[in-house]
Amino acid sequence: MGSNASQATDALNEVIAWRDGHIVAIDQTLLPRELHLLHITTVDELVDAIVRLAVRGAPLLGAAGALGVALAVGQAGREGWDAERLDSEVKRIADARPTAVNLRREADAVAAVIPDGAPAVEAAARAILDTTVDVSIRLSERGAEYLTSERGGGPLTVHTHCNTGALACLGWGSALGIVRALHNRGALASVIVDETRPLLQGSRLTCWELDQLGIEHQLICDGAAPFLISRGMTDAVVVGADRVAANGDVANKIGTYSLALAARRAGIPFVVAVPESTIDAATPGGDQIPVEQRDSAEVTHVLGVPAAPPGTRALNYAFDITPADLVTAIVTEDRIIHPGT
Ligand code: MRU
Repeated sequence: MGSNASQATDALNEVIAWRDGHIVAIDQTLLPRELHLLHITTVDELVDAIVRLAVRGAPLLGAAGALGVALAVGQAGREGWDAERLDSEVKRIADARPTAVNLRREADAVAAVIPDGAPAVEAAARAILDTTVDVSIRLSERGAEYLTSERGGGPLTVHTHCNTGALACLGWGSALGIVRALHNRGALASVIVDETRPLLQGSRLTCWELDQLGIEHQLICDGAAPFLISRGMTDAVVVGADRVAANGDVANKIGTYSLALAARRAGIPFVVAVPESTIDAATPGGDQIPVEQRDSAEVTHVLGVPAAPPGTRALNYAFDITPADLVTAIVTEDRIIHPGT
């Protein structure tokens, strides 16, 4: 393995970290062209990194929320903020993206420790990071077991969307973690990866990770997915989620719903891989999940280059909601739920 490749593999083991009172994280907007580490020292810098998706993916957002509280506490000490200011800065972090429930959940969990002092806050944030990796390994093994027993009879081709690997989950993965676990068992034939417009997390990030891991894969345009599924080119669709409502409705990257419809029509499993912390008991159904809408320039441009006439207006819903009845299984570190039955 060349030095660039081994640097990349090391980086996948530490996508975000707490170093000398600040956050170090991979800038995911620059991949696969450049592996660049951000040194985030203020709440403004963290919110900016989250909003522009340099730091992204539900579990990683949870980790960023947790470390963000430690960052805010440090900045409060340096700049003499009162409790009210600290509270509003923590809220700014928790609100930076609305759909991924882990961001708010982990920020709130660590904020509850603020009265115990900065060392306790740091320890609580670090504990969340440690748990996150462990959880994704456990859910990946469970998912691989489930798929091999459901689909049986030889290595599987898995269709996936967006990026749900080490970059999104701090060193392993959820949906892509299941892919890794299948690969490690010799039970994976190949992966079909949706490019995931508009910001191309599938082509830029998932293909990059699969490349580092030596896992066979092919990239497709999002619009090709239902047709290829209908042609029997995949054995199962496996995706992650930003939030699962109490009734099993699933919010995930825009384009997920069409995969679920195609999977149902083709009679193959549509599996959602999430940590328990992504299931939001406080949100009864998908209608109550806030769906982030982003700048239309992300649609009218591709990688910063105009792809539509000037002045074109675009709709840029970042996520969609897949109704529970289309979901074959939700796999977590603790259980398998069948909301569609
Ligand atoms: O906008 P992003 O890149 O943060 O969206 C990420 C996704 O939609 C992922 O599928 C989801 O967060 C699960 S990550 C394990």
